[in-house]
Amino acid sequence: MKRATRGAWPGGRRLPLRLGAALLAAALVAGCGKPPIDDPRAGQGDPERGMLVMHQHACNACHVIPGVTGPDIHVGPPLEGMARRQNIAGAIPNTIENMVRWLRDPQAIDPKTAMPDMGLTENDALDAAAYLATLH
Ligand code: HEC
Repeated sequence: MKRATRGAWPGGRRLPLRLGAALLAAALVAGCGKPPIDDPRAGQGDPERGMLVMHQHACNACHVIPGVTGPDIHVGPPLEGMARRQNIAGAIPNTIENMVRWLRDPQAIDPKTAMPDMGLTENDALDAAAYLATLH
């Protein structure tokens, strides 16, 4: 019996294979810290300033943050590898846009979270988010 799918792709099996390779490549790129969904603010912040913002606001009092050293008491989760995480605080997808929202007002995302509102301005949060997005 003739297979129904034969001829559906010009060139036989080659197109679906190439499609598979393209999807694999896309998945690999996504695995390297690319935002999982469209992120209008990706690339807007200044990561170097973000590092200073985190020093100024003593985020390292509660978090281990590569590049931002501090005391050895840690209430919050380490932020190492933040760029690879799927979610922020297990609550919302890890995008720059969402990170800004989280940093500006964590209780708006999760009313029970122990992470305090650090009083970051929109710009501070955007820069800090840009720095966190470099932590693979
Ligand atoms: C008083 C301690 C404290 C301070 C200060 C603090 N955080 Fe947090 N942070 C937490 C806790 C606790 C959590 C875990 C929240 C949860 O899962 O509900 C958290 C979660 C986070 C997360 C999500 C981590 C993840 O694994 O999803 C990020 C990002 C973060 N904080 C960044 C910052 C930044 C940037 C600052 C400084 C502006 C800061 N935090 C200051 C306690 C703190």
